[in-house]
Amino acid sequence: MPRSTGWLFLLSTATMAAAPSYYRDVRPLLQKNCAGCHQPSAKASGLDLTSYAAFAAGGKKGPAFAAGKADESLTIQYLTGAAQPRMPLGVAPLSPADVQVFRDWIQAGAKDDTPASVDDNRPSVYLQPPVITSLRFSPDGKQIAVSGNREVLLHRVSGEGAPIRLHGKAERILSLAFSSDGKLLIAGGGTPAQFGEVQIWDAPNGKLLRTAVLTNDTVFGASLAPDASKIAVGAADNTVHVFETATAKELYKIGNHEDWVLSTVFGVDSKRFVSVSRDRAAKIIDANSGAFLENANLLKSELYAIARHPKKDIVVFGGEDRYPYVYLLDRPRNMKIADDTTLVRRIERQDGPITALDWSGDGKLIAVAGQSPKVNLYDADTGDHKLSCTGHTAGIYALSFSSDGTRLATGGFDGKVRIYSTADCSLVREFVPVPITATLTAGAK
Ligand code: HEC
Repeated sequence: MPRSTGWLFLLSTATMAAAPSYYRDVRPLLQKNCAGCHQPSAKASGLDLTSYAAFAAGGKKGPAFAAGKADESLTIQYLTGAAQPRMPLGVAPLSPADVQVFRDWIQAGAKDDTPASVDDNRPSVYLQPPVITSLRFSPDGKQIAVSGNREVLLHRVSGEGAPIRLHGKAERILSLAFSSDGKLLIAGGGTPAQFGEVQIWDAPNGKLLRTAVLTNDTVFGASLAPDASKIAVGAADNTVHVFETATAKELYKIGNHEDWVLSTVFGVDSKRFVSVSRDRAAKIIDANSGAFLENANLLKSELYAIARHPKKDIVVFGGEDRYPYVYLLDRPRNMKIADDTTLVRRIERQDGPITALDWSGDGKLIAVAGQSPKVNLYDADTGDHKLSCTGHTAGIYALSFSSDGTRLATGGFDGKVRIYSTADCSLVREFVPVPITATLTAGAK
């Protein structure tokens, strides 16, 4: 297919009265065709296509478009195949008419016409289910916290009643963590290309207690120490920040990763934590001083997710190379060069890069999910595959076992929460966690 089809351009200028709108025309195409791989919790090539600001900021190769210069814009080059691999990756190319929408919008100046109402403090309005980037069972198993746009929704697992809506400042919530007594809910996220935020909620009363704002982009993988004293969170500026839960005061920040830090987890005694990054390292840090202790692993591939055994300092992490790795935090003997004796096992390769992991509260099961629509359950002691839970239609970005281990909740690109029985992967319940408004209101046009 030729890169520039002149007649199409003539056709579109003749038939289209005005230049395409970002909000009305471009954004839906991005949501439908691109956001599965290019979104905050799984930015393929560093590119997030879920907001204007992030789209403009671009990915590893720089800004994704140059206003007024369609042919020089990376987006057009990737859509037409002038740059390889052609986008959307692995599926049929967009229709010429859809590519023309991008071309015309860029040529006309690539204006952002996202309505201001999307940025105010009114309750979020949803025209379609948003991608679920995080969810968590409450420790008593009665509630489930789910990420929405600019809010966290607290649903009863039984399905009774309306959800409690915890409305905050951050546009995106990318990680959630309850304290073990269920009183605190930590939400980490932010607004892309603007700020990161850690929110500390009084969960039973739905009240925001404190927030900490940090860096100029969303933050990832917030975790709470088991004694609830500290919160660790990763960032896109390659740092990890640690906060005191009682005050939301930053205790320290560490900068020993070389790429985005996407997830963190504390050790059982709250004295250490591990951070995993796209730089391929899982770093063990002294939680009191912030001192680097050692790498848990030998570097293999970009790491996106980590979870810990409920009672032991054993972790499972995974990412780009699709293998979940189980590692001890303590070495059975002194370290030698290129020592990998802390590796307990490598679990089988998944169908896509790993984006979420969880370890059941009884220690028996490990759940693994990724850019494929299926969740795999493994026997944590042997690494043997036990079950696969299916039903999602696209990538899964969030997983949570109930603390008794009988239920597994999942969410991802298709916007539905699914709750499975871990005994046989039967679907117990599925629901859209946000209220959907049928039509676009005048104010949002
Ligand atoms: C199935 C996953 C997937 C889908 C869907 C997808 N992309 Fe990509 N995209 C990737 C990957 C992987 C790369 C890195 C490719 C490479 O350089 O090898 C990439 C790279 C890009 C880049 C270059 C970014 C940079 O700065 O490095 C652009 C631009 C892009 N994609 C645009 C799009 C658009 C627009 C869509 C939707 C029409 C789309 N992609 C859909 C996976 C995807």
